[in-house]
This record gives sequence, C-alpha cells and structure tokens, in this order.
Amino acid sequence: ISAANMSKPKVLVTRSDVPQKCLDMLKEKCDVEVYPASHPIPREELLKMIVGKDGIFCLITEKMDKEVLDAAGPKLKVISTMSVGYDHLSIDEIKRRKILVGNTPGVLTDATAELTVALLLATTRRFFECHAEMFNGGWAKCAWSPLWMLGHGLVGKTLGIFGLGRIGSGVARRLQGFGLKRIIYAGRKPQETAKELSAEFVTFDTLLQESDFICVTSALNDETREIFDERAFSKMKSSAIIVNTSRGGVIKQDALVQALKTNQIRGAGLDVMTPEPLPCDHVLTTLPNCTLVPHIGSAETQTREDMATLCSANLLAGLEGKPMPSQLC
Ligand code: DGY
Repeated sequence: ISAANMSKPKVLVTRSDVPQKCLDMLKEKCDVEVYPASHPIPREELLKMIVGKDGIFCLITEKMDKEVLDAAGPKLKVISTMSVGYDHLSIDEIKRRKILVGNTPGVLTDATAELTVALLLATTRRFFECHAEMFNGGWAKCAWSPLWMLGHGLVGKTLGIFGLGRIGSGVARRLQGFGLKRIIYAGRKPQETAKELSAEFVTFDTLLQESDFICVTSALNDETREIFDERAFSKMKSSAIIVNTSRGGVIKQDALVQALKTNQIRGAGLDVMTPEPLPCDHVLTTLPNCTLVPHIGSAETQTREDMATLCSANLLAGLEGKPMPSQLC
C-alpha cells in the first residue's frame, strides 16, 4: 500500500463498535469508512457504502451476495469477515470475481467450546427454568423438594459431537473430566484429533440413536443444512439433549419445536437459531425445555479483540498482495 494518501485503498468497516485496535491498524494504511452505528448496517446503506471500495471488514450480519458484489464494482479485492463461519458469503460468486476472503478460525475456539459446555450443563440441569422459579414463586411453594427441577448428569453417559473440528474437539477435551462413558462423533470423515480424545467415529444415525447429549459444532453447508430434521429427532433418545453452537440452519427448527413440544427429546440448548435475532414472541421462547442464548459463542473480551485484529490483518495482507494470516479462499 502506497504511503501517498491519494492511493490508499478504500475500506469499509460495517460496524462502529469494533475494537479500536483493529480500526487503528486499518487507518494507518487505508482510507477507512465506518458505518457509524452499533447495529447492523441496513442493506440499502451497505449497497451505497460499498461502491468503489477495495476491501470490506464485515460481520456475520452482512450478506455478501451477488447484489452487494455488483454494487461494489470491480475494485473490490478483499472481503474479511470477523467470524469463522462464512455462510453469509456467496463463495461461488466471490471466487468467480477472484476476490480474496479472510476469516477468523482458531482465535474463537476456546470461547465457543466453553460456551457449548456451559449451554450443555445449563440445559441438562435446567438453569433457566430454575432461575425463573426464583422470581415466580415456584421455589417458595415447594421449598426443597425431592423430585423438583431434576436434570440428568453426565456421568456414565454418551456424548455425541456432530462435527469434530476445532470447536467440537475443544468441547470433547473440556468434558474429559466429567465421567462420560463414551464420546462418539459424526461428520464427513474420521478426524486425527479423535485418538487423543478417545472419540469414536460413527454414522450419523448411530450418533442420533446412541447419544445422551448431542453437541452440534459443524459448519453450515449444503450437506449439513437442516440435517437435524423430523427423521433425526425421531431417532434420538427421548432423554436426549441437543446443543447447537454452530448455525441455526443445521437444525430444521420447526421439527425441533415439535420434538420439544411433544417431549420426543428432553431439551435443547441453542446459541444459534433461525432467524437471528429471534423475535421475542417466537414459539421457541415459550418452551421450558429450550435454553436460549443470543449467539454469544465467541462473546469473550480477549476473543473478540483477537478476532477483530485477525480480521484487520487479513484485510491488510490481502490488499498488500501478501499471504493472509487466515485465508479462506
Ligand atoms: C463465527 O465466528 O462464525 C461465530 O458464529 C461468531 O463468532
């Protein structure tokens, strides 16, 4: 990137509340325009602000599809997303235009694995239902009661992981001390890390039939979209819990709602859902056996700082024609 101001690459940052450090990195070498708000950039603003940009620092809330790429015009060289997931990017369109893409794997693994474990425990031990009982008079009525608010523990149980990648492995690693009987996993193919975790590769149907807890940590793609559907829920144990910290689209949500309403499965813990944000009056919010948190897998202070820094580093490297620290394509 030339030092001359005139030839600085033009970059759009789609949100104002990103860590300052990542903005400083960009401002040193680029002409940076920031969407001046802490809510997602409206589509029409994005279509206007991206015109003539060389690069974009975006979030999972921005759909980078044909319309946006057309609006950007031929100067757009780099898309850098502050996320590991990239289902918001139309990769085929992007590749066709030879635009480089960076994402942020690795730096959010620990935070997301921790959150997955937290959500699993919160769901099986019914934290949110219990929390409500503190305020709705429920506790006052029954005091300490032998059969009240019972959950299921992890000791002697089978944990199933759908997608034993970085985050799935992190979950398995963290749960090693919980006395599980078995860890099984399903996905595209057996994984190297499975040995160290004593995790056993099984078919998707075996995962469904034999797991007491299923953690969904796969990417969302054409193979995984709505793979947890009516058929899948019908194969699961009625005592099973499903936890999803990947993408809402991996689960067919209407089928999950049905499975939860009819107690076909015991519960669900969801960090991700469809749509996001979930409307406050959505049926999922009314189900006591569904624990919901608002897509906070990576919402940990240092993690977000690291994601933003890596996102800026990817963008700068791409613009300078250097290898990106983390290039998706
Ligand atoms: C990601 O990075 O894809 C998460 O969903 C947001 O942290």
